Amino acid sequence: MPGRLEVIELPDTAAVAERVAARLLSARRRHPGRPLGLATGRTMLPVYAEMARLLALLPAEEQERLRRSWLSFSLDEYVGLAPSDPRSFHGVIQAHLIGPLGLDPAGVRLPAGLTADPVAEAQRYAADLAAAGGIGLQVLGLGLNGHVGFNEPPCGPEAACRCVELSDVTRFQNAEAFGGDPRAVPTRAITLGLAEILAADRILLVVTGAAKAPVLRRVLESPPTPDIPASWLQRHPAVSVIADGPALGRGD
Ligand code: GLP
Repeated sequence: MPGRLEVIELPDTAAVAERVAARLLSARRRHPGRPLGLATGRTMLPVYAEMARLLALLPAEEQERLRRSWLSFSLDEYVGLAPSDPRSFHGVIQAHLIGPLGLDPAGVRLPAGLTADPVAEAQRYAADLAAAGGIGLQVLGLGLNGHVGFNEPPCGPEAACRCVELSDVTRFQNAEAFGGDPRAVPTRAITLGLAEILAADRILLVVTGAAKAPVLRRVLESPPTPDIPASWLQRHPAVSVIADGPALGRGD
């Protein structure tokens, strides 16, 4: 039955960032044995900035405990980019999460994009996540074509961690980091699948801005379909959609 997803509407991106950052930090504090699942992308940048601010407000010993015990698995990485490349998701996570929060990089896991064998790397990453017991709280952004992670349509709920071809829509959406040229965006990526995402204990789908309103509406109202990968979230028992007014079509 469509329309079962819980929707939390907040006025603007700042309020969304505050709510999501607080949920992520609280998950690390309350369930230290359960890894976070992290997204990369513009939606998440204010969230990570807010996490750094909230972390700094905690007592010094608590901050240190969180830094040392950190464990997160990012959803995805472009194939062919070195971790030192600022356009890679490693680069983004280093600049916006590891650096500002002062995290031990050993606990911040991503697939390796610079690899001769991305198929084997996807299997290694899936095994690393499985050995850690799977994701506790998973945070997701939403692609303009309904993707989560890099699970491009069409995509069923059993799709597991793998190497994928990126769609033209996604390369266009992510061109900003590549000098505005969609052709400069890598053609392949390694992504956790809907299988690993739907196995998380809890999921937050974070959506901001009027540009996402049409696709978010389809995620909320369409029956689950491979054409809108995020629509499979309706099958998970503990999903919250955290969105600002414009993303819910309330006008900017
Ligand atoms: C990207 C990434 C996702 C991200 C989503 C939304 O392509 N693969 O991890 O959450 O699409 O991106 P943005 O937040 O920049 O709109």
